[in-house]
Amino acid sequence: MTLHLLMMNKLEIILEKQPELVTERMQLVALSSEHVGPMFRMRSDAEVMRYIPRTLAKTNADVEALIQMIHERFQQKMAINWAMIQTSDKQMIGYIGLVNIDAENDHAEIGYILLPEFQGKGFMHEAMQAVIDFSFEKLGVHRLSGTVDPENTASSKVLEKCGFKLEGHLREHEIFEGRYLDSLIYGLLNREYRSK
Ligand SMILES: CC(C)(COP(=O)(O)OP(=O)(O)OC[C@H]1O[C@@H](n2cnc3c(N)ncnc32)[C@H](O)[C@@H]1OP(=O)(O)O)[C@@H](O)C(=O)NCCC(=O)NCCS
Repeated sequence: MTLHLLMMNKLEIILEKQPELVTERMQLVALSSEHVGPMFRMRSDAEVMRYIPRTLAKTNADVEALIQMIHERFQQKMAINWAMIQTSDKQMIGYIGLVNIDAENDHAEIGYILLPEFQGKGFMHEAMQAVIDFSFEKLGVHRLSGTVDPENTASSKVLEKCGFKLEGHLREHEIFEGRYLDSLIYGLLNREYRSK
């Protein structure tokens, strides 16, 4: 069976129910309506969202609609998002996901956000490692990618620390709130992951 068919089949089997992932300090669980509070704090905070070209949430309803969309994309096997729950106090500290799954090409794009008070403590590196392991070992992805604002040094560093390579710099390819934005594209291949 080719890798391609493998990923298609695994998407069908594994995603009947979203798998939970466990790291040293966190449980990664399916994002749901019980996470509206912390989600709103992240999505309405201009500093947290500084490098993410999405309109700031203004009400809980905005975030509820986002969670509903995330749920629908999971049902369609187009995305998997996990709430990052700190094991010690069961608090949601951020979220991470395969935000665009392209099963036709065995590719998925990773995305992630942390609440401000949990940044700078290595949490995203820890969560990303678990999502990378899941993607390559369970889902059979061939390539993972990340799209980063060139000024978002912390995000680039997390990807590089997890083995992603800088593949390119797209100039002014996306328009957001009247401005053309640049993006750095990072990629990690299955064989590079396995060779480590
Ligand atoms: C990007 C983000 C997920 C990083 O997660 P994190 O757990 O805070 O990452 P870390 O604290 O481990 O920092 C990673 C590295 O970046 C460095 N760093 C952090 N902030 C930095 C900054 N403003 N400028 C330069 N380097 C910075 C850290 O020193 C660390 O480097 P090191 O590994 O060499 O010590 C987090 O900052 C965040 O949620 N930001 C807002 C949302 C966002 O931008 N998401 C990504 C969209 S692509």
